[in-house]
Amino acid sequence: MEIFKKNDKLYHIIDHNYHLLPVLNRFGINLGFRDKTVEEICLEHNINTGFFMAIVNTYHNEEYFPRNELLTFSPLEIISYLRKTHSYYFSYTIPKLDDLLNRLIASSPSDFKGLQMVDVFYKKYKKELRQHIDHEEEKVFPYVINLVKTQQPDSEYTIRNFEEEHSNVEEKLNDLKHLLIKYITPDYDENICNDFLITLSLFEKDLEDHARIEDKILMPLTIEIENKLLK
Ligand SMILES: [Fe+2]
Ligand SMILES: [Fe+2]
Repeated sequence: MEIFKKNDKLYHIIDHNYHLLPVLNRFGINLGFRDKTVEEICLEHNINTGFFMAIVNTYHNEEYFPRNELLTFSPLEIISYLRKTHSYYFSYTIPKLDDLLNRLIASSPSDFKGLQMVDVFYKKYKKELRQHIDHEEEKVFPYVINLVKTQQPDSEYTIRNFEEEHSNVEEKLNDLKHLLIKYITPDYDENICNDFLITLSLFEKDLEDHARIEDKILMPLTIEIENKLLK
């Protein structure tokens, strides 16, 4: 799979992969790029081009890993990006899924049991996601921020504790999709159901990529900092 370069036109990147649109928004970039390259747009928005490319390529290409550039990124920059993604999930994606699922249930008077099962699973999932994200926002990110600012390692906690605990919240979304695809009684509004499934699938992909940024960029970078400080 291809890797985008800083001299690529931004419209070309979106043309290739429109799933990157919310990623751009998280950097404060909106449409109307004309013929500008990524580098030109990043300069205009005061964004570190290397970091922007690393995030875009991590989303675009599962095999991509910015080994050489890794140490040039600021963990604070990465955390700011991850936090924007968390808030996008809770201010946009989850309310959208809530609304679609409520409408889907209302559209199917005869399948109360099947959809009830989906609803219970979904509500449980939301709780787990909230706990996962709260843990990162309240424990992991403050740990990294403190490490960078004070340059003092913590005596009890290292980022490896987090690495071990970091669960795959996206896998359960796949179970939810399967529950719906396999067990729903065919008496429902098709368009609402399709919208719900498509939104779930996009969310699953976004969460996978988000977790890859945590595991493959934030984590190794923090380990490097810890190792340097412990020397
Ligand atoms: Fe996260
Ligand atoms: Fe996570």
